[in-house]
Amino acid sequence: MFSPTATRALRRAASSNTKHYICPACKYSTSNTPNRVIFSGIQPTGVPHLGNYLGALRPWAKLQDGAATDDRLLFSIVDLHAITIKQDPRLLRQWRKEMFASFLAVGLDPKKSILFAQSDVPAHAELMWILSCFASMGYLSRMTQWKSKMSLPSNANPFDTSTSKKKDAPALKLGLFSYPVLQAADILLYKTTHVPVGEDQAQHLEFARELAITFNHTFGADLLVPPQTIISPAKRVMSLAEPTKKMSKSDPDVKSRILITDTKEEIHKKIKVALTDSIQGVSYDRDSRPGVSNLIDIMYHFQEEHFASPEQLTKDLFGPETSLKVLKEKVANTIDDHLRDVRERFSSAMSMGDVEMSDMARESADAANQLATSNLKTIKSQMGLGWD
Ligand code: AMP
Ligand code: TRP
Repeated sequence: MFSPTATRALRRAASSNTKHYICPACKYSTSNTPNRVIFSGIQPTGVPHLGNYLGALRPWAKLQDGAATDDRLLFSIVDLHAITIKQDPRLLRQWRKEMFASFLAVGLDPKKSILFAQSDVPAHAELMWILSCFASMGYLSRMTQWKSKMSLPSNANPFDTSTSKKKDAPALKLGLFSYPVLQAADILLYKTTHVPVGEDQAQHLEFARELAITFNHTFGADLLVPPQTIISPAKRVMSLAEPTKKMSKSDPDVKSRILITDTKEEIHKKIKVALTDSIQGVSYDRDSRPGVSNLIDIMYHFQEEHFASPEQLTKDLFGPETSLKVLKEKVANTIDDHLRDVRERFSSAMSMGDVEMSDMARESADAANQLATSNLKTIKSQMGLGWD
């Protein structure tokens, strides 16, 4: 049962047409909507960090645990997205395993959610082709992901030949450019109603919505479901080394992020050297004290049920007399307390035999394949791509 504040928030959400939605009271639940289909994906690019955990994996587990019996949940290791940049096959195989183990470690349960690798369900790639025939090149060229992966400025243009000649920048590949179309296919294939992600994915979700609307308009039928985005309250966990940038797997500085498998010692070491400032005491102000505020935010996200906001947490636990050393100690202890179980479950999942893990993944992929094949058949038939 939800508190009155949570219930009010849920009603407001249900009656509005908001596309991006953060439930302020219950944080993750939209469970007054019947028959939800919740889908999300994560790339297998190494052990997840705190941003992935707080911004995606933990909200997924909370959604799963609060799900109604008529909800369907699917979480995918999006390995076809991972190959939009160069991958070593041996490492990719290892990272797929680590991501599957991370799913289990954060509490995702194959009995409650379909946990599968994207490349095990061929319909994703097939629907992507279909959607490519409706996706606007102009819209795709404004997307930021291919630019950031190629370290290009936000005004870069794919048709500008100097883009691909830029020193050290690999030539723009079609797969990287059309990455959001594959993401739209992932989502639309399952008639997804809700997609829980971090803030950086909002642009891709808007693209998927518009693609669904265009497609439906073309065929005069509600074949595709424009999904709603659920942005996690921890929408942007920042780098420990450069707190004005988001925490990211691709940052070469390993001290910029905490992994969900980091030991107590590693957590303390990384938090100890996290960039803060030379202002005395502990106060919360994201603009003037990004480093300190990021640490407070992280602590708050682990204790959302105890404090109304990061400001409240600061007021209740710290003050102008508190040293940054004490703040860092408390933050490191909080992270370690909360990650201990995750770390242990990760290591027991990784010690599972290869056969046991692949059987589990295949069984889930069978369930995903059944749903995907049936939905794709309807879509193709409506388009004239079928015999009946
Ligand atoms: P990726 O690692 O880019 O595949 O992201 C997987 C999920 O984690 C997506 O939902 C992202 O929005 C989320 N995510 C990644 N980095 C962060 C971050 N620093 N803060 C919050 N969420 C994040
Ligand atoms: N693009 C997402 C990321 O980089 C991963 C992703 C792929 C995804 N397909 C998706 C997320 C579908 C949500 C829904 O994090």
